[in-house]
Amino acid sequence: MILLDGAATAKSIKLEIASEVEALKKSGQKVPHLAAVLVGDDGASMTYVGSKVKSCEEVGFVSTLITRPSNTTEEELLQIVDQLNRDPEIDGYIIQLPLPKHINEHKILLAIDPEKDVDGFHPVNVGKMMLNLPCFLPATPAGIIELLRRYQVPTEGKHAVVIGRSHIVGLPVSVLLQRNAYPGNCTVTIAHSRTSDLKSLCKSADIVIAALGKPEFVTGEMIKEGAVVVDVGITRVVDASKKSGFRIAGDVNFAEVAEKCSFITPVPGGVGPMTIVSLLMNTLSAVKNHR
Ligand code: GUN
Repeated sequence: MILLDGAATAKSIKLEIASEVEALKKSGQKVPHLAAVLVGDDGASMTYVGSKVKSCEEVGFVSTLITRPSNTTEEELLQIVDQLNRDPEIDGYIIQLPLPKHINEHKILLAIDPEKDVDGFHPVNVGKMMLNLPCFLPATPAGIIELLRRYQVPTEGKHAVVIGRSHIVGLPVSVLLQRNAYPGNCTVTIAHSRTSDLKSLCKSADIVIAALGKPEFVTGEMIKEGAVVVDVGITRVVDASKKSGFRIAGDVNFAEVAEKCSFITPVPGGVGPMTIVSLLMNTLSAVKNHR
């Protein structure tokens, strides 16, 4: 079994990005500037946004964190989006999801300038991704693909089962895995809460992408010998033995599944760090595109 070490891979990609930033600086060009907007006080979202901002600093980007209380109105958030669209200093920005229930997420995402949409969530970028045109790819799917590439995981002709059909992970990673490219050329099945006999389906998979958000859902008996398993789950589970009062659990029962795998991602230290570096890479390309 080979561990797909997202933390180590992300670290080396950050060094690559940092040296590109240095080169930009030396030639008197603008340093990339990423902004993140966080509405409300969801603990997990605060942690994710904090990691994104910290990573910006590590590679020499400028970052701006905009926080607003959970009673922020849709109109107020649209105004922030409009300001970020117009601000020439900002190369790219993200609106951390989920948003409070009273805000229409689609309306907000639609208002983002697609050229600054480094999360790749605007319908223009989603459409371009479907057509295999240059665009910002959503960070988690792009991070998974980059991890498979860097470990030279064989994908051509493989049966990939993606569990979960979210717009952020399941759906886009399915699109990327079926592309005529490397990594890609998979035969993809998207499984979800209404899929019948998920266990047999998973057992037939050469590659399993677990992105359903249910702690330790994928067990050893669901996995074929030699399969590749990518765990996208990051659920907070109550754990009194931890200082924080919780631990982070993946969607995969690692101890059971790892024994059977050719490759597997750990949680934490797998997909999470790769998501962040994908966002940084998108921001770097936003600067190059604007130039
Ligand atoms: N919430 C969970 N994942 C993401 C992500 O990749 N981007 C944003 N903006 N919000 C998220």
